[in-house]
Amino acid sequence: MNDKTYTLVDVSGAAPAPIVPWAPVLVTREDIELEVERLLDEAAPADGRRAAAVVHPSCTDGTLGFGPGVEVTITVLKPGERTRPVLRNANQIEFCIGGAGTVLVGDQTMALGKWDVLSLPSMQPYCHHNTGTQPWVRLVYSNAPLLRKLGVHWIEYAGADWQKKTIAATAGLNLEINRANAPDLRIAAAGARLRGYEFLTDIQVVENRPLVWPWQETSQLLAMAPCDDKRNIMLLYNPATERRNGTTHSFFATLFSHPKGQPGRPVGRGHKHSSIAINYHFAGHGKSVVDGQVVPWKAGDLLLSGPSWSEHAHYYDETGAMILTVQDHPLHIGMESLIWQERMDGPILNLGSEAGQKGYIGPRHAG
Ligand SMILES: [Fe+2]
Repeated sequence: MNDKTYTLVDVSGAAPAPIVPWAPVLVTREDIELEVERLLDEAAPADGRRAAAVVHPSCTDGTLGFGPGVEVTITVLKPGERTRPVLRNANQIEFCIGGAGTVLVGDQTMALGKWDVLSLPSMQPYCHHNTGTQPWVRLVYSNAPLLRKLGVHWIEYAGADWQKKTIAATAGLNLEINRANAPDLRIAAAGARLRGYEFLTDIQVVENRPLVWPWQETSQLLAMAPCDDKRNIMLLYNPATERRNGTTHSFFATLFSHPKGQPGRPVGRGHKHSSIAINYHFAGHGKSVVDGQVVPWKAGDLLLSGPSWSEHAHYYDETGAMILTVQDHPLHIGMESLIWQERMDGPILNLGSEAGQKGYIGPRHAG
């Protein structure tokens, strides 16, 4: 009998292989605007969702990634249009780059205008409604490509009662069987334990609400003038992500501001991390240096600015710049795979599992 469907690959003695980062890719403002126009010119699809995924040339497996595990879609709605409610097990960050509208998530309604950021948890039904007079344009970041790779991107249109999601009935089950009274036994002093199956199916819940960071508020707390005693870079923190310090469970988003009039810093070495970084520049201009490749950018350009484990650095001048960065940092903390090297002559740290790098208040910006 020789009907094996698998192969055996001899990996005996395989030498450690280096990481080969994806190339940086710049999507210009002009190309984004053209795609927005094209999407607006088409007839509305049946579910109302006008969107285009920005796919990296190295993404050849159909998972539609701009990074190996990150989808970025250009999403637009005409005034008055609304989308059919949907729910999926991907989480997403939305950044509004034009127009305004409302996002309905379950029984919550949130306004989202220019430069506001939204965190949308998984498995909470949502729809979008353009309540303004201009096209409503958003960049939507999600972990859908990673889920597609795993074969588990679950997505469905929501049912008629989608705004009243209730916990399914558990008739016939003994509700006394739950993690609170399940066995939890010490095996060894070092920490190994044996636990009942209840710990796997009745997991402690950390409520994750959809959240909005309005630009009107965040812009007050970012440096907007040289020496105004405000930070240049701030994390949009969702408390549900706890110590993983995310905006969603997969991603953090940061807002960065290099104020007009503030001199730039001299060109030097970059830093690197296993998390992937995607920058959207919404004001000013500058350049990024990614593994030696110089990439000039301007307001409205999207850039895969920090491919995983690339050495990268970003530069601005006295004309100023503002950037939204999205990075799959919380995902890596959860996997214990977040390796980080702040200085090329410094240590490679496993952040979250060993003492972190102290002394920095921004990328290679010592405090
Ligand atoms: Fe970085």
